[in-house]
Amino acid sequence: MMDLKGCIFDLDGVIVDTARYHYLAWRRLANELGFDFSEEQNEALKGVSRMASLDILLAAGNIEKDDEEKILLATRKNNWYVDYITQMNPSEILPGSIDLLLKLRKEGILIAVGSASKNAGVILDRIGLTGLFDAVIDGYSVTRAKPNPEVFLKGAEQLGLNPVNCIVFEDAVAGVKAAHAAGMKCVGIGEQENLSEAEIIVPNLAGITIEQLRKL
Ligand code: BG6
Ligand code: MG
Repeated sequence: MMDLKGCIFDLDGVIVDTARYHYLAWRRLANELGFDFSEEQNEALKGVSRMASLDILLAAGNIEKDDEEKILLATRKNNWYVDYITQMNPSEILPGSIDLLLKLRKEGILIAVGSASKNAGVILDRIGLTGLFDAVIDGYSVTRAKPNPEVFLKGAEQLGLNPVNCIVFEDAVAGVKAAHAAGMKCVGIGEQENLSEAEIIVPNLAGITIEQLRKL
């Protein structure tokens, strides 16, 4: 049994399906650059920072760009992405999320967002969850991207908790690695084949019980 005091949630692909919008925007950029980009290739981008994602995408298309062009390309992608997320509403919160967040709060377990995204604040506003979390760590708060544990260590620190008392919820391979590097257990959200390193893997947050989490 672990002494569970805090839960840190990745945002994109865990609480909302913005991973889909990231993919559509990256694929559009790839297509403009003259190549296709599959969902399978996109797995490597999940959880990874915007500029690191662009590097992976360009490598997939065998394309080299200088730093100035890269900034323009990343901005193009982000503008398309922002078009998607500004149209979001609370109906896009993934199944089971609100229920679990409220249950945790009721039990006195602190909750935080640990996201690599600089758009996390906008998304939380659009889906009406700003203010529900005890701490929000986003792409502006960290300098080292997942799989570096910085985002989750900062999350625990802002909650005032020891990392061993925290559990992370992640849909990205890089995020599961970051959780473990932070000394935290991790619930993988998604497919077994991608997330086999996580302690448990579930399709979404629906049905997860606090008892089950304490047993991790
Ligand atoms: C992560 C996503 O949450 O945020 C990545 O999984 C994304 O796909 C990263 O690249 C950075 O997001 P943003 O919104 O700052 O470009
Ligand atoms: Mg994610």
